[in-house]
Amino acid sequence: MKMISRRDFIKASAVVGAAGVLTACGGSSSSTAASSVAASSTAAASSEAAASGSANIGVCIYQFADNFMTLYRTDLEEYLKDMGYAVTIVDGKNDQNTQTEQINTFLQQGVDVLVINPVQTTSAQTIVDTISPSGTPIVFINREPDKAVLDSYAGKCCYVGADARQSGTYQGELILETETQGDINGDGKITYIMCKGDPENIDAQYRTEYSIKALTDAGKEVECLYEYLDNWDQTTAQQDVANALAQYGDKIEVVFCNNDAMALGALQSIEQAGRTVGTDIYLVGVDALKEAVQNVVDGKMTGTVLNDDVGQATAAANATKLFVDGSDVDEYYWVDYVKVTTENAAQYL
Ligand code: BGC
Repeated sequence: MKMISRRDFIKASAVVGAAGVLTACGGSSSSTAASSVAASSTAAASSEAAASGSANIGVCIYQFADNFMTLYRTDLEEYLKDMGYAVTIVDGKNDQNTQTEQINTFLQQGVDVLVINPVQTTSAQTIVDTISPSGTPIVFINREPDKAVLDSYAGKCCYVGADARQSGTYQGELILETETQGDINGDGKITYIMCKGDPENIDAQYRTEYSIKALTDAGKEVECLYEYLDNWDQTTAQQDVANALAQYGDKIEVVFCNNDAMALGALQSIEQAGRTVGTDIYLVGVDALKEAVQNVVDGKMTGTVLNDDVGQATAAANATKLFVDGSDVDEYYWVDYVKVTTENAAQYL
């Protein structure tokens, strides 16, 4: 008999009670005059959609070849279809020009709502400026645009995500909870390398900053040997960590990775170099991909942080539905991260 994991459990309950998971933050932006006008025009548009019993939703994903976004888009597609919508999901192939063309095609087709995981967060304003003349609502996901971008299309766009500061803090805490509190060689400081996601992504920036802040806030001395730009990618991280281990050897006590894909790459190199996680090196990631969680259970990773794809996809589907129904939509919807340690990892498998 297969035990139901927490992720599967959340998934099952998300479908039944989707509305309950939607938690708003930062007050309602829908009380402004501009947004109530926007909301009522959405209502007019969506009553046509309601007449046909459905709506057409266009979903733009920055890149299909991303482990975490694959989980996310699979959930999102399921929830939107369960709501009775026609869903088209396209692959931006990590190229902003490709994604912009896809957005233009969706606009020509007259989709009711666009869900967008931007390739470049810095292009979010251009994306809004392209879409706003049509009045099509936008649900931004996963890559947080500046607040000014959301404000520029108030009542017609929102962001669904997780606060990456929290995931970074949890990574630092995972290290502080180890037997040596990250200082394996006992020289009074935590010496580390960092594998980073793409530089303009706020998740990468905050995870890099807050994982270390958790250590220094706890009064620890830290030394950064090198920060590698690994763009969320397993193979790139594998190569960089192999080079780092060859160059710095035992000096490296902690390998921080902004996501699990890179942590999986790092682990391959750690094992190849004959190092042992938990004994002479620590390794943490973010996402709680099944493979990474299994490594935590097996003691091959110090820990990871659940990036709740189910919660985020549920919130994104609910925000989409609010737009379709012409209801008020908040500017931000946040979903919590969860620390995954050897103690609780089994429930995330
Ligand atoms: C995830 C990464 C993913 C990235 C894509 C992050 O929140 O942790 O695994 O590559 O989103 O934007």
